[in-house]
Amino acid sequence: MSHTTLGIGMVGSRYGARMHFDNYQKLPSGLVEIRGVCARTLDSAQRYANDNNISFATDDLNELLSRSDIHIIDICTPPASHHEIAIKAAKAGKHIVMEKPLTGYFGEPGDKEPIGLHVARAKMRKGAKQNAEAVREAVLKHNVKFCYAENWVYSPPILKMQSLIAASKGSILELRAEENHSGSNSFFSKEWKSMGGGALLRMGAHSVGACLYLKQFEGLKRIGEGIRPVSVLADTADLIHTEATQRAKKANAHRWISSDPVDVEDWANVIIRFEDGSRATVLVSDVGLGGLNTRVTAFMTDGVIKANMTLNDGIETYAVDPDTFGDEYFTEKLETKAGWNRPSCDEDWFRGFAQEIEDFVFSIREDREPLAGIDLAVDCVNVIYAAYQSAEEGRVVKL
Ligand SMILES: NC(=O)c1ccc[n+]([C@@H]2O[C@H](COP(=O)([O-])OP(=O)(O)OC[C@H]3O[C@@H](n4cnc5c(N)ncnc54)[C@H](O)[C@@H]3O)[C@@H](O)[C@H]2O)c1
Repeated sequence: MSHTTLGIGMVGSRYGARMHFDNYQKLPSGLVEIRGVCARTLDSAQRYANDNNISFATDDLNELLSRSDIHIIDICTPPASHHEIAIKAAKAGKHIVMEKPLTGYFGEPGDKEPIGLHVARAKMRKGAKQNAEAVREAVLKHNVKFCYAENWVYSPPILKMQSLIAASKGSILELRAEENHSGSNSFFSKEWKSMGGGALLRMGAHSVGACLYLKQFEGLKRIGEGIRPVSVLADTADLIHTEATQRAKKANAHRWISSDPVDVEDWANVIIRFEDGSRATVLVSDVGLGGLNTRVTAFMTDGVIKANMTLNDGIETYAVDPDTFGDEYFTEKLETKAGWNRPSCDEDWFRGFAQEIEDFVFSIREDREPLAGIDLAVDCVNVIYAAYQSAEEGRVVKL
């Protein structure tokens, strides 16, 4: 494998697929080639292929899987299809790159709809775990690599945080991870049956993933084995359908927030307890103005480390007129370029997108595990669905 150009079959043709494409292009030439794209409609696949100079477009996954010059299936579809595509890819002997989250619960025959308002979280948790374990089993059985596109783990601030944790002798007593913005624009994000959950699964996968990864890292450095999560306590809410938001709507003071869920949460707060007694708190919100905010803080016995992946002051701007800087990109989900702002100098790099793609390609070429693999992906699903059960039942849920 090491001297071959790796052929990639992209599944999905929108935001995630475009982001992955851009970052594959940053690799030295000859390492990879996107050789085909599959989407739900041929029209959508064809548009992506035309835009990116890809010769093959299809709406039939089997056509990608049957090609011997495609070695990696890159899954950038909504979560409801992730586990089935991954299992088929593993059976076909293809390595897998997958956008977060690994999977979830998406309903089964007989469930009353909308499922997010009617199906018990304990049942959902069982179903999500089964889906996640089925992917792990297929990956192990068919001996393919599974690369979990958890970009936070690859972002320079989190990598520096790891070096600092390694340099210190202290213990992390609390990790605080947060993400907020003003709501997803994807129609699928409104419904549990296509997303498998709301802000906690869609965005919280990053915060939970980073906390699990960092405690694993700390454990390996200090005691030779990862420090595992043991229980969770959580609360979730749909804050845009509250009396508080109704009041704001009457005053026409609500229009910047695009979140409008059908049966998923747009806010969540989770406390994860680890086996060494330490805690992680995860706070995610789809109703937070001010542009994308992503941070992790480690409160240690001998120091504090703050990692901020967005809204850094590497460069700051001020403008009275929001159009002063024209179409120049600032940062994801920013409502206005007026006033003081902090545009990202290189968002893909700062958020770890370029580095994750590089690690995935080299892990496959060198036959080693990527930094973010199947175990982290499965753990995230398990923690998040335990949190859903905790929020519904109002109690601590053991993992
Ligand atoms: N890491 C990040 O910051 C980040 C950001 C955005 C999206 N994502 C992830 O990327 C993934 C895709 O998100 P998106 O915003 O691009 O979604 P989207 O809804 O905009 O697009 C989904 C694409 O998948 C295709 N598709 C749907 N079902 C399919 C199937 N069964 N077979 C083949 N193609 C299918 C659709 O045709 C479409 O092209 C999600 O898992 C999301 O969580 C990650």
